[in-house]
Amino acid sequence: MRPKDFIAIRDWSPEDLLALLDEAAAIKAAPGKYRRGLELKALALILEKPSLRTRVSFEVGIHQLGGYSLVLTPAEINLGKRESVRDVAKNLERMVDGIMIRTFRHETAVEMAEEASIPVINGLTDFCHPCQAMADYLTIREVKGRLEGIRIAYVGDGNNVAHSLIFGAVRFGAHLSVAHPPGYAPDAGVIRWAAEHAGATGARVEILEDPVAAVRDADVVYTDVWTSMGMETEAEQRKRDFRLYQVNDALVGHAREDYVFMHCLPAHRGEEVSDSVIDSAHSIVFQQAENRLHAQKAVLLALIA
Ligand code: CP
Ligand code: NVA
Repeated sequence: MRPKDFIAIRDWSPEDLLALLDEAAAIKAAPGKYRRGLELKALALILEKPSLRTRVSFEVGIHQLGGYSLVLTPAEINLGKRESVRDVAKNLERMVDGIMIRTFRHETAVEMAEEASIPVINGLTDFCHPCQAMADYLTIREVKGRLEGIRIAYVGDGNNVAHSLIFGAVRFGAHLSVAHPPGYAPDAGVIRWAAEHAGATGARVEILEDPVAAVRDADVVYTDVWTSMGMETEAEQRKRDFRLYQVNDALVGHAREDYVFMHCLPAHRGEEVSDSVIDSAHSIVFQQAENRLHAQKAVLLALIA
């Protein structure tokens, strides 16, 4: 049985995830066919961090499916302080049909999902960003034609985006090399989980500290900000620690000639990526951003319809 919620990619089976990608591609090809798919359904967006892509793609997505959205920021609900996570869940389940939550602690999203009888979608926590990775793998499949055996290099912080890319690589059978500065490795539990499950799909996940080794012969070169939301006090230290991990012309020179560059955005140009790479013909970052919309409409339909 499919999970009630979309909290982490590792909670979902390869078959169900591939069905979501297929549905996303079908929605993208003929969006009009789906315009009554979630007629009059309401989606609450709990946003405890800033957002451009996640907010816009969820709001526009649910509207395109015939439903509507409401945004709840800390100014409105002050989650966990004005009211407990459980009480917010118990109220929202009486009034709306689904919840998207972007928050700090992953446990908050998990608790919301456990307490609410309605579906809960993770729109980013400090631990993972599953909707991003679904859009990423949809994009890679569009551009490269398949996911099995595709060589992805992720250069940078072992953060939420890296964790979801790892979960996705394992589920979709991709080959992912992560290169991180010392001290910024992905979570040890995530690495262990990947080692245990990669065999089932022919995936490979390797964790390195050498960006050149990770990028060598890559089909996809991916990076993310050095300082994620909520870690701003570490920004100066991180700029020093990550300085050898910029994705620039010298580094992508080691990738395949037809490599594509990806970034979940927002980008800090001149830090994790040079203008010359993100603005190059290899960059597919805006196609990737657009695919948030299509991938999440598939998730919304699967969970709420
Ligand atoms: N990639 C992404 O989630 O963007 P936002 O933070 O703007 O939503
Ligand atoms: N790792 C980044 C991703 C932003 C979409 C962050 O958490 O801020």
